[in-house]
Amino acid sequence: MRTSFSALLAFACSASAASQNYPTNKLATSEPHYPSPWMNPQAVGWEEAYAKARSFVSQLTLAEKVNITTGIGWESGQCVGETGSVPRLGLRQLCMQDSPLGIRFADYASAFSSGQTVAASFDRGLMYSRGKAMGQEHKGKGVNVVLGPVAGPLGRAPEGGRNWEGFSPDPYLTGIGMSETIKGIQDAGVVACAKHFIVNEQEHFRQVGESTGRGYNISETLSSNVDDKTLHELYLWPFVDAVRAGVGSVMCSYQQINNSYACQNSKSLNGILKGELGFQGFVMSDWQAQHAGAATAVAGMDMAMPGDTEFNTGYSFWGANLTVAVLNGTVPEYRIDDMAMRIMAAFFKVGQTVEGLKPVNMDSWTSDTYGYLHASVQDGYQQVNWHVDVQSDHGNLIREIAGKSTVLLKNDGALPLNKPKFLAVVGEDAGPSPLGPNGCPDRRCNKGTLAMGWGSGTANFPYLSTPLDALNQQAINDHTRIEAVLDNYASDAYEALVSQEGATALVFVNADSGEGFIDIDDNEGDRKNLTLWNSGDELIKNVSSICNNTIVIIHSVGPTLVTDWYDSPNITAILWAGLPGQESGRGIVDVLYGKVNPAARTPFTWAAKREDYGADVLYKPNNGNNAPQQDFTEGIFIDYRALDKAKIKPIFEFGFGLSYTSFKYANIKVQKNNAGPYQPTKGKTAPAPTFGKISKNIGDYAFPSAVRYIREFIYPYFNTTSSLKAASADPEYGRTAKQFLPPGALDSGAQNLQPAAPGLSDTPGGNKQLFDELYIVTAEITNTGKVVGDEVPQLYVSLGGADDPPVVLRGFDRIRIDPGQTATFRAALTRRDLSNWDTVSQNWVISSHPKTVFVGPSSRNLPLKAKLS
Ligand SMILES: *[C@@H]1O[C@H](CO)[C@@H](O)[C@H](O)[C@H]1NC(C)=O
Ligand SMILES: *[C@@H]1O[C@H](CO)[C@@H](O)[C@H](O)[C@H]1NC(C)=O
Ligand SMILES: *[C@@H]1O[C@H](CO)[C@@H](O)[C@H](O)[C@H]1NC(C)=O
Ligand SMILES: *[C@@H]1O[C@H](CO)[C@@H](O)[C@H](O)[C@H]1NC(C)=O
Ligand SMILES: *[C@@H]1O[C@H](CO)[C@@H](O)[C@H](O)[C@H]1NC(C)=O
Ligand SMILES: *[C@@H]1O[C@H](CO)[C@@H](O)[C@H](O)[C@H]1NC(C)=O
Ligand SMILES: *[C@@H]1O[C@H](CO)[C@@H](O)[C@H](O)[C@H]1NC(C)=O
Ligand SMILES: *[C@@H]1O[C@H](CO)[C@@H](O)[C@H](O)[C@H]1NC(C)=O
Ligand SMILES: *[C@@H]1O[C@H](CO)[C@@H](O)[C@H](O)[C@H]1NC(C)=O
Ligand SMILES: *[C@@H]1O[C@H](CO)[C@@H](O)[C@H](O)[C@H]1NC(C)=O
Repeated sequence: MRTSFSALLAFACSASAASQNYPTNKLATSEPHYPSPWMNPQAVGWEEAYAKARSFVSQLTLAEKVNITTGIGWESGQCVGETGSVPRLGLRQLCMQDSPLGIRFADYASAFSSGQTVAASFDRGLMYSRGKAMGQEHKGKGVNVVLGPVAGPLGRAPEGGRNWEGFSPDPYLTGIGMSETIKGIQDAGVVACAKHFIVNEQEHFRQVGESTGRGYNISETLSSNVDDKTLHELYLWPFVDAVRAGVGSVMCSYQQINNSYACQNSKSLNGILKGELGFQGFVMSDWQAQHAGAATAVAGMDMAMPGDTEFNTGYSFWGANLTVAVLNGTVPEYRIDDMAMRIMAAFFKVGQTVEGLKPVNMDSWTSDTYGYLHASVQDGYQQVNWHVDVQSDHGNLIREIAGKSTVLLKNDGALPLNKPKFLAVVGEDAGPSPLGPNGCPDRRCNKGTLAMGWGSGTANFPYLSTPLDALNQQAINDHTRIEAVLDNYASDAYEALVSQEGATALVFVNADSGEGFIDIDDNEGDRKNLTLWNSGDELIKNVSSICNNTIVIIHSVGPTLVTDWYDSPNITAILWAGLPGQESGRGIVDVLYGKVNPAARTPFTWAAKREDYGADVLYKPNNGNNAPQQDFTEGIFIDYRALDKAKIKPIFEFGFGLSYTSFKYANIKVQKNNAGPYQPTKGKTAPAPTFGKISKNIGDYAFPSAVRYIREFIYPYFNTTSSLKAASADPEYGRTAKQFLPPGALDSGAQNLQPAAPGLSDTPGGNKQLFDELYIVTAEITNTGKVVGDEVPQLYVSLGGADDPPVVLRGFDRIRIDPGQTATFRAALTRRDLSNWDTVSQNWVISSHPKTVFVGPSSRNLPLKAKLS
């Protein structure tokens, strides 16, 4: 893909050479930040974990330390990523496994809703329960690190292929989603991984090979160019919550940030994640996102995944290269110690023990019971799958999430259904795929009902309750006549059906997207348009032109353009059911029939036109053969902030969703707390510690005769025993070229703490005063209807400046209220909630602009307001 030589020397401050399209002097650059912050064993929540890590890591040899930082290579073990082991101390290879909605490649495991779907529930408890259930299932298969949840992409553009893996383009809602999911996963005893860090907002051009394979001749991946204020106020926000929740690992992303690869971008990893946020866990690379050896080590990366330079080369930027680099002083000893400490601290933090680890009992590369332990080279035939059923009763939870995350966008009284006489079900999206629910690997086709997007963020369905299955069951109970036409193009058949007297038509439609390595119908991960698939919009128009009771159900990865049909009087209800996972059918039936009174809210805006969103995916390279440049010129104005700023009316605004009952808002009150003035963090870290001793005897790093050599496997050893110079000169272990390190990269002295950073005895995430509660806002909400229902009151703040969005979400709750009863909504506003990022002081500042709080049921329906004094 690219030469290893230039990659090894590529540092964060370097930028690509001249280009034909993009003036060199306009290329964004990233400022260097060195040295890489080392762990702080006093950080709140990490003390015990670091004490355990210290006693473990202090016993390790250099080769053993390198082993736990470097993956063994693609498809070299049972999981999608595995580190080397430390047999001497009984530590087996650690298992990293996809995905953010279940266990990829597993059997007898659950397929949960997407992150975006559970975000629509606005229900912290459900987000937590989902995380915990997923964590338990991973644990049951022997997984050590769950590769989720996702806050990058955040959802800059609605077309972004993996938006559904995350939560919402609103950073506050995503932050809560991250925090609750991480707590859930880690409470179950496995490490979570917040990904992809950072500004990884589209699939196009994220990897060179993927792009050249499609005829885009580029030599480097996309650069997301984002200013410091936008980074802090938008994209970093949910990662702050992840770090505060104690997340054990963070994954650096494929693309470049300001023309410096995310996995060697010292500004974002050293400066922001580890320095400013005080992150105490480890940074692992995305799979093939590492493009250099020493540069990634000193820029703050801690674990190379899956370990090889590119899949199945048998070579690694780390492994033996890292051993040599530490021995010859290119990578400081404290840095390898810090990597090992961070990895082991995260390991211990969630309650794992070296002795207590059960073997991995699943295999990612075969569903057979027996297979190759080292699949890439067909080596080590043995039992690899034990088919352990880890589902427990999670199906019920998934059903509950499906129902409680379904957004009722329109209802002219058609819903809830009550023993309807005649249901006409229309659309491929109502039924099963003729290939079965797992017929397309990684869900690389859109057939039948859509309950998951495509790519690595998937899991196999243990079963898939389709809408038609569940509707049939309900109809049998109710003596309802039910007939379905599942072919979107069988217009004669469905027209004959829905035109019959008394028909209630349920039209199921969808829109899909996924990860960039798969292209479906010219959607190269990212959606190429915002319309429905399989002529869904035309199907809706056809049915509603002849049936005056047409109910539309959308399964999708984000908003679609409903402009042409949503206000037809014949369309009596519209529901967005997201990507509900295995309980899709029973979940939607619960809502259609009123067993669940809908309360979910759309976690993104439904605009009338694609252009209304402003930001879009870059579909064509714009910088000759060099890295495509994506300038985030819209700043923080994405999704509702973009439409609000431009005063464009959406069709359904962010936070909108209906209920079968009605609510009235009254009596907003603001109580001011005495939090005291904000103090920038001062002081210094301790000097960089090292743990244990490393042998300088080169013979100790020779390939041991006791270890069986496996082809394509990544080891920490090198083959020469003659001299370190020879090892350094061996072209297989890197180059003897003039190696340079950026200024400060080797500095092991005490470092100043950043003003916005946590103090040494604080919780990671930022200056502790950012989380002081400055105001408590309360409001009263009355259920004025006839049925019990949940309401989702939302608190928005106007920060008051000319550059600020009209409103930003800063609080919400989901409250169950009986008819006629009144409940109190309470939300705390922290200092962070009211601050802007000041690029000069590199700190959060509350501006002098007057601030107003609003409370209401959506971002554009805010009946209550109050000034903050
Ligand atoms: C990217 O460049 C912008 C503009 O110079 C700067 O504000 C920002 O801090 C840079 N970010 C990173 C991560 O380098
Ligand atoms: C490194 O990991 C490999 C693979 O698990 C193992 O065979 C080898 O013994 C380990 N090396 C050391 C030094 O522990
Ligand atoms: C791709 O770009 C490189 C560098 O400009 C050029 O040498 C090469 O011929 C191009 N390849 C194709 C297939 O166009
Ligand atoms: C060391 O890294 C270089 C790239 O910098 C790579 O070409 C080489 O194969 C690596 N050596 C080993 C033994 O993995
Ligand atoms: C040290 O080792 C690294 C990794 O093999 C290599 O790239 C570098 O050139 C070596 N430096 C010296 C001074 O030998
Ligand atoms: C819509 O109806 C027209 C006219 O009957 C038909 O030609 C067309 O195929 C239908 N579209 C779909 C998607 O069924
Ligand atoms: C949008 O993309 C979908 C999926 O590829 C396709 O079915 C549909 O025809 C496209 N819509 C338009 C208007 O081209
Ligand atoms: C609504 O449906 C009726 C048939 O019930 C049809 O006559 C009428 O034209 C439809 N109206 C619209 C706006 O599609
Ligand atoms: C649909 O049309 C029928 C027949 O004209 C009428 O009885 C019924 O009330 C209409 N339904 C709706 C939901 O408007
Ligand atoms: C390193 O040693 C292993 C085991 O002896 C051997 O199979 C491999 O080819 C050697 N690699 C090189 C680059 O010599």
